[in-house]
Amino acid sequence: MSDTSWVCEPCGLEALPAPEGKPAIRLVDVEKTLDGKKVLDGVTLDIPRQRITAIIGLSGAGKSVMLKHMIGLIRPERGQVLIDGVDISRLSRGELYKARRRFGMLFQGGALFDSLTVFENVAFPLQEKTEMGEGEIRKRVLARLAQVGLEEAQGKFPDELSGGMVRRVAFARAMVTDPEIILFDEPTTGLDPIIRNSILNLICHTYHQHGFTMVMISHDIPEIFQWSHYVVVLHDGKVVEAGPTAEVVRSVNPFVQQIIRGDITGPVHLM
Ligand SMILES: Nc1ncnc2c1ncn2[C@@H]1O[C@H](COP(=O)(O)OP(=O)(O)OP(=O)(O)O)[C@@H](O)[C@H]1O
Ligand SMILES: [Mg+2]
Repeated sequence: MSDTSWVCEPCGLEALPAPEGKPAIRLVDVEKTLDGKKVLDGVTLDIPRQRITAIIGLSGAGKSVMLKHMIGLIRPERGQVLIDGVDISRLSRGELYKARRRFGMLFQGGALFDSLTVFENVAFPLQEKTEMGEGEIRKRVLARLAQVGLEEAQGKFPDELSGGMVRRVAFARAMVTDPEIILFDEPTTGLDPIIRNSILNLICHTYHQHGFTMVMISHDIPEIFQWSHYVVVLHDGKVVEAGPTAEVVRSVNPFVQQIIRGDITGPVHLM
């Protein structure tokens, strides 16, 4: 996979040096049928290590289902999901649980636990996945909440938060264990432009600070291109384009151009 000399436009920082070795995540000919519909139809894809990868595509294209395969929440009928060369779709429950410790995940809509406070939501992965003591957990959670500007909200419940606050808490929860790979399912959809940019800025700064591998589903086109090194375009359960952002933006594929421009006319007819 080729790499780009890439500078983040909004924050002016260069991408971290390209690490040696294999892609962080590799999907090989993945197929999945749900409710009689082939949702993933032979997806083959490399997610580069220590890069921000955006996944774009129309609603129902299979983006969330694909992301859930990457963390083993859904198993494919066919194909492989390789994390550092290990096929996680073949692991036992116990092995999968261990493999998931390396991941953080922000689900579509935030998916906070309604009956837990902000503090308890962010502490949850540390209690589940680590042996940390209470004092250490407290310190880590408060540091992460400070990073997203929400220390004051630690005692609140999710229904007392605005949409933007929910995403920030979900972000703090996704990165609280210092995972190697963070998967974000639409971290900014439905937020006002300033909060959206503040979340993307937070993701970008966290990347530069920790060098995580980040995969982010987004409908924020074209803004998302400023914030991602690689772009994957999914349509009808197939990868129609994948590569460095600058190359995908210049793609001659008419479908890719239609989705980038949001054209009503083109190869995709919705009505
Ligand atoms: N658990 C499930 N059971 C049955 N069908 C499902 C399930 N999850 C997803 N699907 C179906 O798979 C298809 C792809 O869904 P997916 O959630 O991946 O879309 P998406 O690309 O993330 O769309 P959006 O941008 O609207 O979030 C849809 O037709 C959806 O109805
Ligand atoms: Mg989705």
